[in-house]
Amino acid sequence: MARVLTVTLNPALDLTVRLPALRLGEVNRSDSLQVHAAGKGLNVAQVLADLGHQLTVTGFLGEGNPQAFEQLFAARGFSDEFVRVAGDTRSNIKLAEAGGQVTDINGPGLAVSEAQGDALLLRLKRLAPDHELVVVAGSLPRGVDSLWFVELLRTLKQLGARVALDTSGAALRDGLTTAPWLIKPNEEELAEARGIPLAESQALAREAWRLQVEGVEHVVVSQGAEGVSWFSPGASLHAQPPKVRVVSTVGAGDSLLAGMLHGLLEGWPGERTLAHATAIAAQAVGQVGFGISDPAQLAELEAAVRLQPLSQ
Ligand SMILES: Nc1ncnc2c1ncn2[C@@H]1O[C@H](COP(=O)(O)OP(=O)(O)OP(=O)(O)O)[C@@H](O)[C@H]1O
Ligand SMILES: [Mg+2]
Repeated sequence: MARVLTVTLNPALDLTVRLPALRLGEVNRSDSLQVHAAGKGLNVAQVLADLGHQLTVTGFLGEGNPQAFEQLFAARGFSDEFVRVAGDTRSNIKLAEAGGQVTDINGPGLAVSEAQGDALLLRLKRLAPDHELVVVAGSLPRGVDSLWFVELLRTLKQLGARVALDTSGAALRDGLTTAPWLIKPNEEELAEARGIPLAESQALAREAWRLQVEGVEHVVVSQGAEGVSWFSPGASLHAQPPKVRVVSTVGAGDSLLAGMLHGLLEGWPGERTLAHATAIAAQAVGQVGFGISDPAQLAELEAAVRLQPLSQ
């Protein structure tokens, strides 16, 4: 099992309020309120922990409301290396009605100062050499821009770290110039970052090849219910997940990424790596939350994943 460092620059407290039906402009009564610590890097960390890896977690955390995060780190045995920042970590409120409709109200991210940005870079220099892999996932907080983000990714690369990147927008577009070891955008995110449509499989394969020429070793493109296309130096494969009843897609992309990293860390053959990762993502979609809850069901899902070679 490996030591993995995950970087979550813009975590969030997810507040899920369950209520019969939302009535705007009126007093509503909720059935329950659940709070949990979230953020893409932390989601990946939790799935990797389920798979037996040892995690160090870092990024920025508001010093005003760290309790739910610190409880998660203690419960999962994560080594906490988050840089504390004045203020509260943002809250993302989900108003979940009994009929299935969910209304999201996302809070503004923390504002990070230049000194705190520098503090994180210093911390990464200390931590990265002790880890086999660094996962950088999620959006950027206020106060840092994609130039700083590029510096972060370059710093990791210069330390010899293998970097897995999952972000979007300008952070992905500019982050790609540092040629991370692995990327996991969804199809739309990659199309936006590269400024070209990628819905045609040939266009996607061509763009993946360009990225590989630029130095990205593994291009993992998720395609929702259509599955995932993985372009790697060995073989390029597409995985079609089995049909699952969608309960919640929260954490699907993060589960897929964690599954891919697991197979690569373990040195599994490509087919097994991709089928297992696709099954972990399908399981996440079929349950509230994510994580490996039922190993027998996971094995069934894995057996039902259909793999096909991709021509490049
Ligand atoms: N309806 C579905 N049925 C089975 N598997 C699914 C379904 N939706 C998503 N998945 C699996 O989850 C993976 C990730 O989903 P998706 O492409 O939507 O990622 P994403 O847009 O990055 O999501 P996220 O919001 O978690 O970042 C897909 O590649 C697929 O394997
Ligand atoms: Mg995603």
